Amino acid sequence: MSVLITGARGQVGQGVLGRLAASGFPVRAASARPAELAVPDGVETVEMVLDRPETFGAALDGVRQVFLYPEPAGIDELIKAAEAAGVEHVVLLSSAAVLGPDAETHPIGSHNLRVERALADSTLTVTVLRPDAFASNSLGWAWPIGQSMPVALAYPDARIAPIHPDDIADIAAEALTGGTLAGRTVTLTGAESLSFREQLAILSDETGREIPVERISRGEAEQQMGKYLPDRMVTALLDLWASAQDGPAEIADTTASLLGQPARSYRQWARENAAAFGAE
Ligand SMILES: NC(=O)c1ccc[n+]([C@@H]2O[C@H](COP(=O)([O-])OP(=O)(O)OC[C@H]3O[C@@H](n4cnc5c(N)ncnc54)[C@H](OP(=O)(O)O)[C@@H]3O)[C@@H](O)[C@H]2O)c1
Repeated sequence: MSVLITGARGQVGQGVLGRLAASGFPVRAASARPAELAVPDGVETVEMVLDRPETFGAALDGVRQVFLYPEPAGIDELIKAAEAAGVEHVVLLSSAAVLGPDAETHPIGSHNLRVERALADSTLTVTVLRPDAFASNSLGWAWPIGQSMPVALAYPDARIAPIHPDDIADIAAEALTGGTLAGRTVTLTGAESLSFREQLAILSDETGREIPVERISRGEAEQQMGKYLPDRMVTALLDLWASAQDGPAEIADTTASLLGQPARSYRQWARENAAAFGAE
């Protein structure tokens, strides 16, 4: 009986797919664009769009477990289809944003809460992964760093505990294949609290490039971020970073606490991804 990996082009989904396939588990890779999937030999692919219920039946046929990206738009239909197909267990890639005091109105928190709650009301066993900030969010700095421009930040001393996406994939794979995590809800972070300034210093070390940091006003940050993100998201992110200046970031569950293996460091992520920042 197969494990269905939704959003299989995503960085975490790809990691989960690779781990399960390498361990010999029957997996099916689902994507809105299956033709663009790169899958290990022998892995089936299927079109599945999380807000298009007509794509659910074929994707779920013969499936017992699902690795799920959250999409409120189709979640009720997805749960019905999964229950009808005999799915037993869902591992949800949620977000630590559901834990914030403003989660009900927060753009990311409310999106994930809606999916978590629908799954909690179902007959399925549900494992909820609530990661905090991904180390790979630093790719947002790749353009200015590659252009040898300063990285402009309103809150350069905000501290987060960035998690390596491979740690999330390890934990998701364990939830799908092992006996220790199924049915639990876990909040995931990296193992070290680092300010943005400290992350940029590590990136500078690992890329061999100078990376100046320019402090800008909140208004300037709103203008810059507003070019790519909706206003609600800009406000939510800037509020989060403003409040993250006050102390070290909280460390939650890591691969060390959950799997007994050391959490990957931000430096490791930076080294593995140095080329994206223009490292020679
Ligand atoms: N970034 C953070 O700090 C953070 C923190 C907590 C939680 N999260 C959550 O984690 C999820 C994002 O995870 P992720 O980083 O694994 O996602 P990702 O790589 O951004 O991919 C997300 C989805 O986008 C689709 N996609 C569209 N174009 C793509 C492309 N060119 N390459 C790859 N995928 C593409 C894929 O679905 P199809 O294959 O179906 O098209 C994929 O599953 C979100 O739900 C977010 O809320 C993020």
